[in-house]
Order: sequence, then C-alpha cells, then structure tokens
Amino acid sequence: MNIILLGPPGVGKGTQAKLLQEKLNIPQISTGDLFRAAIKNQTELGKKAKEYMDKGNLVPDEITNDLVKLRIQESDCKNGFILDGYPRTINQAETLEKNLESLGKKIDLVVSLELDDSLIVERITGRRTSKKTGKIYHIKYNPPIDEKEEDLEQRADDTEEVVVNRLKVYHSQTSPLIEFYNLKNLTKTVNAEGNVEDILNSILKLV
Ligand code: AP5
Repeated sequence: MNIILLGPPGVGKGTQAKLLQEKLNIPQISTGDLFRAAIKNQTELGKKAKEYMDKGNLVPDEITNDLVKLRIQESDCKNGFILDGYPRTINQAETLEKNLESLGKKIDLVVSLELDDSLIVERITGRRTSKKTGKIYHIKYNPPIDEKEEDLEQRADDTEEVVVNRLKVYHSQTSPLIEFYNLKNLTKTVNAEGNVEDILNSILKLV
C-alpha cells in the first residue's frame, strides 16, 4: 500500500509514520529526514537544501522530485511506502503521479492530518530528537525517561519565527493538495488533536 501523510509542520506526520512503518512493515520516506541526513554528511545536496530549510522555505521541486524518484525505486519499497512530507506542491504531486505510473504503481490513500495552528507552535518548539536513535520526543507531551542517555537535540528550523513562515508556506503551497487528492477520491481527514495511539488507530482504520 502506498500512503501519503499530509499535514502542516509539527502536526505529527513523523510520529505517526514511524509507528505505521512498524505496523504495516513498509518504509517511511521523509524528505525532511533525507535532507537533514544530507546536511549532516555535508553533501552538495545538503548544502543547497540547508539554505531553504533554515528559512522555512521549500527546497526547489526539481531537487526534491529527483530524490524521491530514486528512493521509491529501492527494493524495500516493493510492497509499499509511507510518504511523510512529500509531495508538498502541486508540481511535486503531478511528478509523483507520473513517476509512479512509469513503475506501474499508484497512491492508494492520502491521510490529511488536521490541527489548529495555535497548537502547532507548541508542538514544534517543544520537539526534541534523540541524536542516538532519531526518536522524536516532546518536552511536555512525550519526554524521554533519561534525557542524558538520549542526547537530545533541537532542529535548527524549530524556532518560533521559522515556524511562522513554515505555516505560511504550508497554507499557500501544500494545503491545496488536500483538494487535489480529494478530486481523486483519495483524501481522508484525521483529527490530529488527542493522544498518539488514538490518532494511529484512526489512521489504521482507514488503511
Ligand atoms: P519536514 O522535516 O518534513 O518538516 P515538517 O513538514 O515541517 O514537519 P515536521 O517534521 O516539523 O513535523 P511532523 O508533522 O513530522 O511532526 P512530529 O511527528 O515531529 O521538513 C522540513 C523542511 O525540509 C521543510 O521546511 C522544507 O524546507 C524541507 N522539505 C521537506 N520536504 C520537502 C518537500 N517535499 N519539498 C520541499 N521542501 C521540503 O511531531 C512534532 C512534535 O509534536 C514532536 O515533539 C512530537 O513528539 C509531538 N507530537 C506528535 N504527535 C503528538 C500528539 N498527538 N500529541 C502531542 N504531541 C504530539
């Protein structure tokens, strides 16, 4: 099954994608994670992506489309995948459709996670990631048992001012995808307020 998790920054796409990956045994493909790994490894791609990410703007479509095109052809995607944070523009959605078509595949479900902007800022500014395991925590909602052991870090784009721009970019460039996929009868909406398990169960019911 090929699934897209759509939603504003900080809505919980990564949290849910990681859990779905275990439940469904198909990989999470997070373009944000792929870019962050490239930045860490100081590759050319990473250097380019960082310029945009630090400001909360989207990395250009041609770079992002090529990255995903290669990733979905890897062997672990043969039974399906969970796209987390891609597509994010109409151009990306149309390119994805063409790329999948050429592989004899298609998108089966688009889960649109919804949460009020006022709750987004709190979720994002409280997020911490384990340097050791990549696990996502929240200082208030999901703190680690042993903070030191996890060696937590905060993402460079998780400041309040960058979040404001990320939300602006989401509403102008990404939210039109809800209707784009609705016209194809693929969009299913899930309320992302509440606890992680309940949200996961709502998504699993759709799967
Ligand atoms: P990306 O990494 O994709 O970030 P994002 O979409 O802004 O989403 P986030 O990772 O911030 O949040 P999330 O929805 O995954 O939430 P999470 O589960 O972590 O993109 C970063 C940048 O890369 C972009 O700005 C852009 O520059 C570039 N980029 C990436 N993809 C691109 C593309 N396709 N095209 C162009 N550019 C691209 O949860 C957030 C916090 O909330 C955590 O602390 C978590 O513990 C907590 N939480 C989660 N669920 C709950 C809950 N139910 N209750 C309470 N707390 C919760």
